[in-house]
Amino acid sequence: MGRMRWIDTLEAAAAEKLPEAVHRYYRQGAAGGVSVGEAVAAWSSYRFRPRVLNDVSTVELGTTVLGTPVDVPVLVAPSTLHRMADPDGELAMATGVAAANSLIGLSSNAGTTFADVGASGVPWWLQIYVVRNREITERMLDAAVEGGARAVVLTVDTPVVGRKEDTGETVWDLVQPSQFLANLPDGDWTDEDLAKADDLSPDVIGWLAERTGLPVVVKGVLRGDDAKRCADAGAAGVIVSNHGGRQLDASIPTAQALPEVAEALAGTSTEIYVDGGIRRGEHILAALALGARAVFVGRPALWALTVDGSAGVTRLLTDLGTELDHCLRLVGCPRTTDLTPDLVTQHHPH
Ligand code: FNR
Repeated sequence: MGRMRWIDTLEAAAAEKLPEAVHRYYRQGAAGGVSVGEAVAAWSSYRFRPRVLNDVSTVELGTTVLGTPVDVPVLVAPSTLHRMADPDGELAMATGVAAANSLIGLSSNAGTTFADVGASGVPWWLQIYVVRNREITERMLDAAVEGGARAVVLTVDTPVVGRKEDTGETVWDLVQPSQFLANLPDGDWTDEDLAKADDLSPDVIGWLAERTGLPVVVKGVLRGDDAKRCADAGAAGVIVSNHGGRQLDASIPTAQALPEVAEALAGTSTEIYVDGGIRRGEHILAALALGARAVFVGRPALWALTVDGSAGVTRLLTDLGTELDHCLRLVGCPRTTDLTPDLVTQHHPH
């Protein structure tokens, strides 16, 4: 099977292997599914203004993300329940990411311990939800530091969990707590302790940085003014994200939000990342040209893990890198760091 075709048929291949409830859980969006449905199309609506007669004989895909070198500007987004995709769960995902010399955002609801992920050697960032009982969050942060996390990704689009419309058997009928709570500190916690904190302010960024000594990246920003508030409060980075359409449905596509965030953070050292619906080299090209330092992929990594374990994850990342390499040559810009917004314009259908 050809390279492009493998990416295009990945979800279908994964669907054949996964229990129906798991496939539905991975792919679903919140409420009416508006945001999840339009994410990919929003990236595909950009058009390029390629440069010609530039030397593109040598392309450079590598970059650094908060100082960590990566071979491709494509990172794996934090997501839960990797053990439903592969028996080795997050460890298989981490191994696949490491082989591609990329980086993984590890969900705080992982089914593998921070220590085990750290021991795999993969560069990783801890994704965290601050919960109402701060002792739980503090102990998770300490364990992540111990396990070698290089940054804390604070997810801010989830003061409450997005409503999913499910009927019949759900993934929660199939999973064991150990498959997504491997890093929950021991204790007799109540539902109230574990509920997400819904009273957070930008001050939490400084608190996380101080507690861990790590850079803090704020995930779930869709507005320029919020990006600026995060930067002013000390965020080292922001991830433009609508949580893969799983939180507030009909939130704007990240392809639309990115230029506004880039404008708000122009001239600052705050790094910009983006996720949601990124599936092809052309999408990555648009994201980088519009100001992202790297992109994250969520569901494609789950499909790749399902289909071919860690090797599938490596292949996904290297294939996306190969597609980006091709796009960089055709757009006339051999280095990702030299991409500029004038290379991209909106498609206006007649
Ligand atoms: C997620 N996402 C997510 N984000 C987060 O901050 N913490 C989490 O635990 C999860 N869990 C999760 C589970 C599943 C099954 C999915 C699909 C997604 C969101 C994720 O990090 C990312 O924002 C989106 O997945 C990006 O969109 P694409 O690439 O899936 O279109």
